[in-house]
Amino acid sequence: MTDNTPPVLIESDGPVTIVTLNRPEKRNAMNAALIRSMIETLETLRADNGCRVVVITGAGPAFCAGMDLKEFFGSDDRTAASRERLIQDASEWRYRLLRQFPKPTIAMVNGSCFGGGFSLVECCDLAISDREARFGLSEINFRHIPAGPVSKSMASILRPRDALLLALTGRPFDGEHAQRIGLVNEAVAGDQLLAHTLALAHEIAAKDAAALRLTKECYRYATEMDWDASLAFNAAKSYELLARQANGESRDEAVLDFRAGRLKPGAPA
Ligand code: COA
Repeated sequence: MTDNTPPVLIESDGPVTIVTLNRPEKRNAMNAALIRSMIETLETLRADNGCRVVVITGAGPAFCAGMDLKEFFGSDDRTAASRERLIQDASEWRYRLLRQFPKPTIAMVNGSCFGGGFSLVECCDLAISDREARFGLSEINFRHIPAGPVSKSMASILRPRDALLLALTGRPFDGEHAQRIGLVNEAVAGDQLLAHTLALAHEIAAKDAAALRLTKECYRYATEMDWDASLAFNAAKSYELLARQANGESRDEAVLDFRAGRLKPGAPA
């Protein structure tokens, strides 16, 4: 592999965009180049109307081996300021840019997922894993702590006993266990991972883009708000949806179809 190899690959499958972390020889460990490239990629996809759902995966045998330990903890010639900036970017692209991305995101965990890779999974809205993928909060084995957004990600998605057991032991586990503890939605056979994930992505991509965006926003912010604030926020978002519909950004034919008896979403398939 040459230095010109892009650290992130982007591929479209109709309205679904597949973003691949592309440092397979380093098991997609997140270094400065990969972090900057993910920030650029997500900023581009945010404005791309052709992209309705984003799938994030890894090239080669790993999903993401966490932070690049050699680059982050080794000596380098960065100034203190540029190092601080990098550490901030390394966290923010996951917990802010990805978590609040205005389109649905799915982590497709194709292999090893360690350390910082956990928050990449958690910051996506949904996750599908190869059932044989290996996961681990291995920081404790390096006499370290889960860095950046990982602790908050674990607190957000896992039950306290599971989060602490994994963080305090660093025990590795597989995709089926990840499904049992709710870290991923489903664990499937490796040869079905892509088809299964794309089927889910296309099912979601067929929904109304504005309704998807606001559904996600209402959920994400509700988790941080009390009931009254959440209801007020939801009401404001309902008005925003009406405004987007009036603007031609979204369509309200579905409600008209329901009123006319042409649409019954709860009917058996
Ligand atoms: N940071 C920097 N480099 C990493 C890395 C990381 N987090 N994870 C893997 N690599 C590098 C290895 O050093 C090796 O580089 P080299 O070829 O220059 O020696 C290369 O990726 C391949 O790793 P290898 O261990 O040979 O691959 P594997 O397929 O046998 O095992 C892992 C894959 C992910 C299980 C193993 O590399 C591993 O345990 N990595 C550490 C993961 C981790 O604990 N991350 C949390 C960080 S706090």
